[in-house]
Amino acid sequence: MEVPIIAPSLLSADFSDMRSALATIEGAESDWVHMDVMDGRFVPNLTFGPKMVADLRPHTHLPLDVHLMIVEPEVLVPAFVKAGADYVTFHLEATTHAHRLAQSIRALGAKVGVAIVPSTPVSLLSELLAIVDLVLVMTVDPGFGGQSLIPSCLDKCRSLASERKARSLDYLISVDGGVNSQTLPEIARSGADTLVMGSAFFAAADPAQVVRDARSAFRPQVR
Ligand code: DX5
Ligand code: ZN
Repeated sequence: MEVPIIAPSLLSADFSDMRSALATIEGAESDWVHMDVMDGRFVPNLTFGPKMVADLRPHTHLPLDVHLMIVEPEVLVPAFVKAGADYVTFHLEATTHAHRLAQSIRALGAKVGVAIVPSTPVSLLSELLAIVDLVLVMTVDPGFGGQSLIPSCLDKCRSLASERKARSLDYLISVDGGVNSQTLPEIARSGADTLVMGSAFFAAADPAQVVRDARSAFRPQVR
């Protein structure tokens, strides 16, 4: 797999025109579409539910990377998989039985992601690493686009990359929050391989250039 995987976030798109946001993401030669689901409880903001995933599904061939920032994710996971999510990422902090939830996402036929907020130590993921496809490291407190990356969170990517190697695992390491031209060099050195980009992508005059710049920040790393 070529790294980095670029996943623009629809959170920063115009919600009245999601289909053209998809066209912008595809036109920029991105790899995935990141969809931030917020419930107003786990985070102080609201976005959209499974219907948005289902309605957008026929309009792109790119994988839909669904990031659930919701309490009791087990309640809605089946609906998001049925809607067409390729990756379903839940927050470790939002569920008691993360192991069970990871297994059930896989059983439903989707790839499994687990996310942690900045205050959660990466060591708490140890028992889950062997059964997930993706670890999403939040580098801002979740809820809003356009915040500044918290540099110390990138240490978690370093530790996840070395753990992956030591245990011969193969999960992706995704960075979400404050990814932009200033922070990319440090992110590239951290061992992360998947980049969620909201405001840096959608606010750019030329989103395709943002994607090209992100890829070149990672060169010559290949995984
Ligand atoms: C924040 C979301 C992010 C958000 C990132 O809670 O999980 O995916 O879209 O936005 P930027 O890239 O603007 O920090
Ligand atoms: Zn996200």
